[in-house]
Order: sequence, then structure tokens, then C-alpha cells
Amino acid sequence: MNSRRKLITLDEFTIQETRKFPQATGELSAILRDIGLACKMINKQVLKAGLVDILGKHGATNVQGEEQMKLDVYANETLIAVLQNSSECAGIASEENDEFVCFEDEYSVHSKYVVLFDPLDGSSNIDVNAPIGTIFSIYRRVSELGKPCTAEDFLQEGNKLMAAGYVIYGSSTMMVYATKLSVNGFTLEPSIGEFCLSHPDMKCPEKGKIYSINQGNTSKYSEGMKSFLDYCMESNKEEGRPYSHRYIGSMVADMHRTLIKGGIFMYPADKSNAKGKLRLQYECNPMAFLIEAAGGEASDGTQRILDVQPAELHERCPIYIGSKNLVNKAVAFANEAATVA
Ligand code: AHG
Ligand code: MN
Ligand code: MN
Repeated sequence: MNSRRKLITLDEFTIQETRKFPQATGELSAILRDIGLACKMINKQVLKAGLVDILGKHGATNVQGEEQMKLDVYANETLIAVLQNSSECAGIASEENDEFVCFEDEYSVHSKYVVLFDPLDGSSNIDVNAPIGTIFSIYRRVSELGKPCTAEDFLQEGNKLMAAGYVIYGSSTMMVYATKLSVNGFTLEPSIGEFCLSHPDMKCPEKGKIYSINQGNTSKYSEGMKSFLDYCMESNKEEGRPYSHRYIGSMVADMHRTLIKGGIFMYPADKSNAKGKLRLQYECNPMAFLIEAAGGEASDGTQRILDVQPAELHERCPIYIGSKNLVNKAVAFANEAATVA
């Protein structure tokens, strides 16, 4: 009798992974479990957003000067509360908080890890029922254990990431996370309330035929960037062009498609945003870590995103990310006319 493929839950998977590292203590697994719990709580509100008072604007702006949606605030508060109770996390930094937050209870100050997150990515899509997500990054702290975490813990380059990933609240709810070893996807099984392994060892296709960018900004791009968009749109049967253009407007959703189908997602610098729009520590680094672990590439136009040394908590970063062939091609075009128009 062929045994039915056993469902492997996120917790079972992370514990099995921990066994590969004899010196591992299971704290990283515990943090992933806690992020999963917080995202299941967020998912519950997302699923009935139209029925509960969670749609619309919160009536305040965040440190980015962006109007906060009610779900931004709910997701942020949920992640902070769950991670504070976890006692495996020394502190957090959030896209929605001006400053980082230290957890100073007697357990948390001895924790080895800090977590950074974009609690709700794609806020502009909440009210129109398009996919949205949560993006997270886990670093080993560099400050002294037993004392409160410090700014340096949150300003580490992406190469130092221990794990990073996202949860996408889409047609199904999935958690995808990477360690240096591999990228694995887990689909939420609502009847048991567990994320279950559905996409083991995910790889980003080496070549892609989809380009993803807010083409409405084209007039503000560099000449090189405009040339790359022309290249994507001109017909060339041998090279499989014109490519398809897809843009959902939630980074998590555009990145999930890029990871699975290949292609490139871009948010370049432009005339009004010299460093682009997306945040290095909450969006670009975690996605760059994940796509590289899946065999893809991520550049800011001049270097690997993971090599960028963060100077401040909320700095932005231009991003070209996805299949190797397209990232290299886009960066080459973008540097052709080095100046931004
Ligand atoms: P957030 O909702 O966390 O602010 O992120 C929105 C980001 C990202 O998800 C998306 O790729 C990008 O903003 C879309 O920006 P435009 O609307 O300017 O295209
Ligand atoms: Mn975001
Ligand atoms: Mn956000």
C-alpha cells in the first residue's frame, strides 16, 4: 500500500533542519514558528477584511511619511506582541516604527536573534482584494547577550542574514523562507491551522520572460532604463521577445511570481527618488537573500544588494531582482547612460 505523502508542518520541517546542525539550539526554529503564528493571526483578519473594521485608513502616517492603513497597524502590533512573548527574540525593527524596539525582559535580553519586518506589504492593494504580504528578516545580534539590543544589530548587511522570507496572503496563504541552505514554501492548511511543506527546495528559473515594473514612472527613469524597457518590448523571436509585462503592485506578490516563473522585478532609482522607493532592510535585503538562495540575483544597479552596508534604519534602495539573465541585462542597460534623466 503506497503510504499517503505525510504532511510536514513548518515546525516539523524546521526541527528536522535543525538536526543538520549539531550545535543548533532550536531558537531560530522557534522564531520562525512565532512569525508563522503572527501571520496566521494577520491572515484571519485579511480573510474577512470586508466584514470587520480593518479596511481603510488608520488616520496616521508612518516614519516613511506614508498613510497607514488599519491592517498595517494591526499586522505591526501583532508581530511585535507575538515576538515579545516568544523570549527567543531580543528586539525588532519595523517599517512602521520610527525606532527599533528592545525586549528587555530577563529572557529576551539573553536571546541571540533580532527580527526586522515589513508587517503588511502592498497596503495599496488591501482595499481591492489583491494579494498582500508580510516580509521578515532574522539576524544574529552583534551586541552583548544579557544587555538590550543596539542599533548595530539592525544595521547589518544582508550577507549576515540567518533567515529571511515572506508570507503571501493570496489565493492561498503561503510562507516562503530561505536559509543559506535552501528556500522552502509552506501552504497554510486552514482545517488544521498549520503551514505545511508544499514547495520544497524552490529554485528561481535561470532565464525569464516576464518583466515587472511600474511603467507609469518611465518618464522619470534614466535613458539606460528606458532602453531596457524598449528591449523588453521589441520583437525578437530568437530571443523570445517581446516579454510579458506583469505588475501587481505588492512586492511580495511580484516576487513570488518571479521566484516561481522567473523574470525580473524592478524598482529603479528615478528623477524624484534617487534611491528608489523600496526599503533596504525591510524589503530589498530579505528578498535578495531569498532569491540568491534560490539561484537568482539581486542588484541595486551597481552592486549585490546583500553587500550594501546600511547607514540608517529606513534607507531605500534601487532593486533589480530575479532570473540571472534578466538582472544582468537590466543592470547593463541601466549603467549604459549612467546619469538618471
Ligand atoms: P508597502 O505597502 O509595505 O509600503 O509596500 C509597497 C511597495 C511594494 O509592495 C510595491 O512593490 C511597491 O510599493 C509599489 O509601488 P508603486 O505603487 O509606486 O508602484
Ligand atoms: Mn512593503
Ligand atoms: Mn508595509
